[in-house]
Amino acid sequence: QPTLADLAQRHGRYFGSATDNPELTDEPYKAVLGSEFDMITPGNGMKWYATEPQQGVFDWSKGDEIVNLARANHQRVRGHTLVWHSQLPDWLTGRTWTAPELRAVLKKHIQTEVRHYRGKIYAWDVVNEAFNEDGTYRETVFYKTLGPGYIADALRWAHQADPKAKLYLNDYNIEGIGPKSDAYYKLAQELQAQGVPLDGIGLQAHLALQYGYPTTLEDNLRRFSRLRLDTALTEVDVRMFVPADEAKLATQAEWYRDMTEACLAVRRCVGITLWDYTDKYSWIPAFFEGEGAALPWDEQLAPKPAYFAIRDAL
Ligand code: XIL
Repeated sequence: QPTLADLAQRHGRYFGSATDNPELTDEPYKAVLGSEFDMITPGNGMKWYATEPQQGVFDWSKGDEIVNLARANHQRVRGHTLVWHSQLPDWLTGRTWTAPELRAVLKKHIQTEVRHYRGKIYAWDVVNEAFNEDGTYRETVFYKTLGPGYIADALRWAHQADPKAKLYLNDYNIEGIGPKSDAYYKLAQELQAQGVPLDGIGLQAHLALQYGYPTTLEDNLRRFSRLRLDTALTEVDVRMFVPADEAKLATQAEWYRDMTEACLAVRRCVGITLWDYTDKYSWIPAFFEGEGAALPWDEQLAPKPAYFAIRDAL
């Protein structure tokens, strides 16, 4: 039976999963991770707190473990993430910085990390979650200290360090057309006009049954492809209030089917990544009280209706 990766490859797409280091002792989990997918994202191992725990002291152990596993399984890797307001090391958040200081810190972090993984990363989420829901810039330490130009700088520095890696901006709640995805559409055009290296927009796609399906997803993907940008669904899950029941799982399956079809319908939507593949290791229960059951495999690693819906769509 062909895997999700096999089916996606027939369309020139990939089908991926996030994973995290602690899970890699679970052999049955690892078996599915290594066989069903052709793209891997480290869920935490390449974030700033993990890779530069002290200023100027770099730790590649977690990211390397996942890159090495992926390579052994002939899988590509999405690097996640270089610049983000969350999961920063204490040394960075625990003091104030002048603009020249923070600019130097940011440049060194990006260039050192991208250089370390040079040639091993298909695409980097260079900046993660840069906008608020209303399309204004999120007031992160980077924005407040450096202004909006930190995004162009980050892209340029990453490009210098690995000219072959695709460079993405990545965010949630930008699956449909709205103020937040409009902000990316506008920023992408500005960056292109300035000659800044940008290859794609990552739509995290952390969906929730209670908020409804983003019916303008396909139109949204299309408008970015008209800018000659790739798109990807980078962190897909579809959460619900638990316990799950047959009706909720059926709706969830429809949403997974619809997302897969939307990506396949748009040439430059290059692939889909699940934010881990099994409910056993989903981030949802820890972050959204009362919610869960968001992934296509259940906690026993058994495929759910969503898994079969994805297969049907591919
Ligand atoms: C999550 C991880 O899955 C968790 O293990 C961690 O505790 C918090 O971050 N958007 C992102 C991801 O871009 O990096 C987040 O990952 C989920 C939301």
